Amino acid sequence: GLVPVITIDGPTASGKGTVAHGVARRLGFAVLDSGALYRLTALASLRRGIVATDEQAVAAVAEALDVRFDGGHIYLEGHEAGHDIRQEQVGNFASQVAAFGSVRQALLARQRAFRRPPGLVADGRDMGTVVFPDAVLKVFLVADVNARAERRRKQLMEKGISAKLQDLLRDMRERDARDTQRAVAPLAPAADAHTLDSSRMTAQETVQAIMELWQAKA
Ligand code: C5P
Repeated sequence: GLVPVITIDGPTASGKGTVAHGVARRLGFAVLDSGALYRLTALASLRRGIVATDEQAVAAVAEALDVRFDGGHIYLEGHEAGHDIRQEQVGNFASQVAAFGSVRQALLARQRAFRRPPGLVADGRDMGTVVFPDAVLKVFLVADVNARAERRRKQLMEKGISAKLQDLLRDMRERDARDTQRAVAPLAPAADAHTLDSSRMTAQETVQAIMELWQAKA
């Protein structure tokens, strides 16, 4: 039989990453952070001086991407890049080039290669709609924009970075608009996705809710 996949899609800062890792830990599954692949493409492009409007050049970078995921560490061309890809500038570049069909196509096989026994939890924007349409369980994780901006601010504070809530809200709305309005693989729930609103839930509670959905499938 096919290796089971759980997809968790949703807007920026909806808690997908934390929740995906929590579910994967409970089930002993592997994790795909698909956003990291877009961010790595962005970082590698930025380092080559490529601009975000140059679709061909960015697609070539995505095609040749030399990355390794290893026990929570992410390597780009042999060097740890887990910290650098979280920069706002990298996220913004990623969100711009994620609109290019050729860039998405270049990352498709790489994402599907993460599927391995006993199972995979994949988080992103189009995991349930495009990359793993045959997933056993599809979750669309939402949270209101204020809750997401507040979470992002906390995360940044923990890293010693201070940010104004107003600026975070503006960036988040811009990124949401770009992700939902693009022509290729826009952010949208799959027809068979379960939508979960985590605005008033902790990460633990959200993991628990997904585990219950999963158990109901078994
Ligand atoms: O999830 P994360 O913020 O790390 O993703 C960075 C950017 O990559 C997003 O803003 C989104 O535009 C893009 N992305 C995507 N499809 C995915 C994952 C991320 O378009 N599956």
